Amino acid sequence: MKISIRPENKNDYSTISMINDMAFGQEAEGKLIEKLRKNKKFIKDLSLVACMGNEIIGHILLFPITIKGNEQEFNTLALAPMSVIPELQGLGIGSQLVEKGIAKAKKLGHESIIVLGHENYYPKFGFKPANKFNISAPFDVPENVFMALEMVKGALSTVEGTVEYPKEFDEV
Ligand SMILES: CC(C)(COP(=O)(O)OP(=O)(O)OC[C@H]1O[C@@H](n2cnc3c(N)ncnc32)[C@H](O)[C@@H]1OP(=O)(O)O)[C@@H](O)C(=O)NCCC(=O)NCCS
Repeated sequence: MKISIRPENKNDYSTISMINDMAFGQEAEGKLIEKLRKNKKFIKDLSLVACMGNEIIGHILLFPITIKGNEQEFNTLALAPMSVIPELQGLGIGSQLVEKGIAKAKKLGHESIIVLGHENYYPKFGFKPANKFNISAPFDVPENVFMALEMVKGALSTVEGTVEYPKEFDEV
């Protein structure tokens, strides 16, 4: 399927919310993106839309978060949320968004990504259970669904701690 992937621009905001509402069947994720956009850490180039022609059919956000250890704090990215319109799910568009998101984040100098997601989906992009890197979630989740990706080899080798999401995520 021929799609293009590009950073969002301000004409896309309402469509991105709508795509998320459709994919998740609720408004929480669309609203989360709207709130995160107002956070000074938001990186426009890491809010990517998948387009078929001029029509937006999917979206992925990578947002800066921290891993808090006892003595140190590490910067990383959260992959969340991600959405593809229901009628085009399962055709590989989500995978293209993840691949492009990883490539773009790496190009911008980021070294790792954290995701809470499907345990059979993200490993194909290189994600591994976060506990293998001594990284824990700030909430109770089965260990295989909380994953981390080193985009730079060894990037998480000195990391240990608990992921801290910005407060906007609390309301989802
Ligand atoms: C998750 C999502 C973005 C993946 O996009 P996509 O274009 O369907 O993804 P792909 O076609 O590349 O891959 C489809 C695979 O993803 C799997 N998958 C990934 N995340 C999944 C999830 N949260 N729930 C169920 N299946 C999921 C499917 O089982 C499918 O596996 P298969 O290829 O073995 O059949 C899309 O399905 C979606 O919008 N889902 C609703 C919103 C959501 O749950 N987002 C993820 C949490 S942030």
